[in-house]
Amino acid sequence: MAIPEHFLAELRGRAGLLDLVARRVKLVRRGREHTGLCPFHNEKTPSFTVNEDKGFYHCFGCQAHGGAIDFVMATEGLSFPEAVERLAAEVGMEVPRSAPRDRDAEARRKSLYDVTQIAADWFAGQLIGVAGKGARDYLQGRGLTNASIERFHLGYAPEQRDLMKRTLLSRGIEETQLIEAGLLIVPEDGGDSYDRFRDRLMFPITDNRGKIVAFGGRALGSQRAKYLNSPETPIFHKGDLLYNLPNARGSARDEDRLVLVEGYMDVIALDQAGLKCAVAPLGTALTEAQMTASWRLVAEPVLCFDGDAAGQRAAHRAALRALPLLQPGHSLRFIALPAGEDPDSLVRAKGAAAFLDLLAAAVPLSEMLWRMQVQGKNQETPEQRAGLRKELRVLVGEIADNTVRAYYGEHFKARLQAAFGPRPSGPSRHGEGRGFARFGGGARRGGPLYSPPIAAQSGLGRGWKADTYRRERLLIAALLNHPDLVHEVFEELGQLHLSSPELDNIRKSIMQQASSDAPLDLAGLRNNLKSSGKTDASARLIAELTGPGIAQLDPFVRPDAALARVVLVWTNIFRWHRLEDMRHDLKAAEDEFGRDMTDEKQARFFALQKAVDAATAEATSLEET
Ligand code: UTP
Ligand code: MN
Repeated sequence: MAIPEHFLAELRGRAGLLDLVARRVKLVRRGREHTGLCPFHNEKTPSFTVNEDKGFYHCFGCQAHGGAIDFVMATEGLSFPEAVERLAAEVGMEVPRSAPRDRDAEARRKSLYDVTQIAADWFAGQLIGVAGKGARDYLQGRGLTNASIERFHLGYAPEQRDLMKRTLLSRGIEETQLIEAGLLIVPEDGGDSYDRFRDRLMFPITDNRGKIVAFGGRALGSQRAKYLNSPETPIFHKGDLLYNLPNARGSARDEDRLVLVEGYMDVIALDQAGLKCAVAPLGTALTEAQMTASWRLVAEPVLCFDGDAAGQRAAHRAALRALPLLQPGHSLRFIALPAGEDPDSLVRAKGAAAFLDLLAAAVPLSEMLWRMQVQGKNQETPEQRAGLRKELRVLVGEIADNTVRAYYGEHFKARLQAAFGPRPSGPSRHGEGRGFARFGGGARRGGPLYSPPIAAQSGLGRGWKADTYRRERLLIAALLNHPDLVHEVFEELGQLHLSSPELDNIRKSIMQQASSDAPLDLAGLRNNLKSSGKTDASARLIAELTGPGIAQLDPFVRPDAALARVVLVWTNIFRWHRLEDMRHDLKAAEDEFGRDMTDEKQARFFALQKAVDAATAEATSLEET
């Protein structure tokens, strides 16, 4: 039995992860998250976090991770269907029991498409007829041509309580079908059903194949809701669809341009002005499914929001939601309209050219995120800057793709450097190898970091590039032996991917401790590891990596090596190490493209290839410094 995804989404939303967890775990709010002692493993200091916005929990100690349904499965020992059943009962929802291949259900779904099509045609007829005079005048007043009205199959739902119902019943359509299609409302008190849409301008909504599945209705009278949409039905899940997508697909691909606007009228006005590549969500915030659908058409859809506060909030939400979904070559761009304008009013007042100008000036997602963090905030004190740095790091951490995350990490590091860092002295490479303005202990700053070739000075010996484990040990050993190093390479450390779990434990502890910006303290670190239940292996490893053996082998990790040099050698190893990771991803992308030759897979493969080339050049350039 397949449980429809839209049902699960609603169930997760209604059940509320935070409430579920709070029954078992004492939680404390920390910023956007809640933390507490992990219910899945034994611990004394909290490493379990709940992110309510995103609806998941994560334990940094035991890596337990999941959403509301997972939590119930894990804590109550239930299977997936059992957990769904339990949650649904608690929040008063009924689990739909649809056998997907049920012929009856299939036939009824099919008939629903017919019903919505017939209704759309009837609404269109009403718009042309006597009853539609007011609606026609309204459309004319808004500058819509007849061609646009036909192209979007606009219609009018008359004012009568049940005219549509009576007409369609007389044509042999059953009341249950009209109800199932969302066209009738059944009063709670058991009275007669009546037309959902009355005295409204009707916008048919199609699915991705172009079949009409639902409607948006704009009030023409004094109704309360300006827009009323069809409810969710067996053929309509609003979070999965974009208005006008089938029409926009062709030109979006041809022009490599897709614009997401807020309203139906915006889509139509742009289309009429010659911009055929506009789509809109259906009255809700942009969903993951909608973003994914957009990326199937173009690499960088442009999100266009109204210039008011609500528009800005929507843009921010969309930016955050995109992070876990980013892929090499896939991103978003943003335009903010002048206050008080929407795309419709803009093209009507100033023409398509004005909108094209805005499009040309769309800002990339990275810029949008930066502005979100810095706008309207003071960045004067060290604490404020440290706060900014931390927030940016959290954002970067949301990116699931290794390669994209690495580039974002570097991007923000360079921006922080440019914004607050010391003026580069001499011919310096932008943002490379340096931290940014430090808080405390400024003496080690200043002067060009380094110039002679690294390979000659590092004493790394040969073979480290090919030996993953050796690289990982070197990276961690250097951090342990140079308490200040962590502050120089904090961003990189956040992105560092280690295959050895013991080394990775040490990495995490170092980062945790360094978040306080105090110098690294080995005894404290050992204690940290001890209290998180990772005693023996990690402690032994620390002893080994700080002992005399490793330093003999690799002089650069010795405590007396100059920090500037250590930073550079460390960065060098880090880049080669990351390159290995990226090559891994590239290989995987290539295989996947081989299995599934879609444009999307190909684009991902090429983008990764480009990223690997760039990273190779970067790693090599540092070596040749
Ligand atoms: P807007 O209020 O910006 O509408 O809502 P608009 O498209 O500019 O409409 P006009 O120009 O006043 O005719 C943008 C979108 O938000 C959804 C609709 O999808 C609308 O197109 N919406 C808005 C609703 O679902 N319900 C509402 O009450 C209002
Ligand atoms: Mn409008």
